[in-house]
Amino acid sequence: QAQDQVYRHAIKGLLKERKATLVAHYYTDPAIQALAEETNGIVADSLEMARFGRDCDADVLMVAGVRFMGETASILSPDKTVLMPTTEATCSLDIACPIDEFSAFCDQHPDRVVVVYANTSAAVKARADWVVTSSIALDVIEHLQDQGKKILWAPDRHLGHYIQHKTGADMILWDAACIVHEEFKAKGLMDMKTLYPDAKVLAHPESPASVLAMADVIGSTSQLINAAVELPDKTFIVATDQGIFYKMQQQAPDKTLIVAPTAGNDASCRSCASCPWMGMNSLQALYESLRDGSNRIQVERDLAAQAMVPLQRMLDFSR
Ligand code: 13P
Ligand code: SF4
Repeated sequence: QAQDQVYRHAIKGLLKERKATLVAHYYTDPAIQALAEETNGIVADSLEMARFGRDCDADVLMVAGVRFMGETASILSPDKTVLMPTTEATCSLDIACPIDEFSAFCDQHPDRVVVVYANTSAAVKARADWVVTSSIALDVIEHLQDQGKKILWAPDRHLGHYIQHKTGADMILWDAACIVHEEFKAKGLMDMKTLYPDAKVLAHPESPASVLAMADVIGSTSQLINAAVELPDKTFIVATDQGIFYKMQQQAPDKTLIVAPTAGNDASCRSCASCPWMGMNSLQALYESLRDGSNRIQVERDLAAQAMVPLQRMLDFSR
């Protein structure tokens, strides 16, 4: 569209002018992902976004994603200005893990190592011993298990259950879920597998156990893209947000990619493989934030210092 072209042009100019770098998640609008690619920014999973944001040489980080990604960038890069197209973009996992309740839960289990998923507030991270993303969650829990640790896991119960099942680690789980991945259904997937018997199933570990049980590859967004590129198979059914198809198809142009079935294309499907909060990152909002320096993400200093400890552990572990 003509208007999108105008925004794209203006954003490119402002990125240069402000010495700003665009750090985008795979679930954002393909137009935003393309802009990140064209301007030496990055399109990545949440772990790579954190690391790239910290390491890149920029005065301003424009983080296109959801709020926890902006907060993490701000904690890791205190000398950079962190902006987001919107501050309204949250995450159902973050919402379902308020700090007061979470802190009380931790207090009830003082003998456990507290491991939280990156999809949480800075306050929840500050209460944790470890922060992990989906790309390293399994490895970190195995590492802690080797040390004989018992674990308190929050907030995603599907990812927690998957790790528990896979490792046999002693874990107690917080009870929250991603509204997008929770909609993927094993029954629909089974029907789809009969239509595409040669297809391999790629699933994000926030999906329900019944879906993960049918998956050939389970991993973070980056790991799923790599699987589509590297596996010799030609067709993939993909259980994660549809935003990933932009990069996956670009990297694996000769593969057929099919979105996994959700609750059905009916009223009960709240998200239909499309995160409503990621969808708030429009070109217009990005342009306005960059133009005005608005939607700045700042984490209070003491809180940032506390949250930095488990975040640093995460980055050191994944090096
Ligand atoms: P990744 O770390 O795999 O990018 O996941 C982030 C996320 O929000 C998935 O829903
Ligand atoms: Fe949160 Fe799910 Fe959206 Fe990821 S897709 S940001 S986990 S609500």
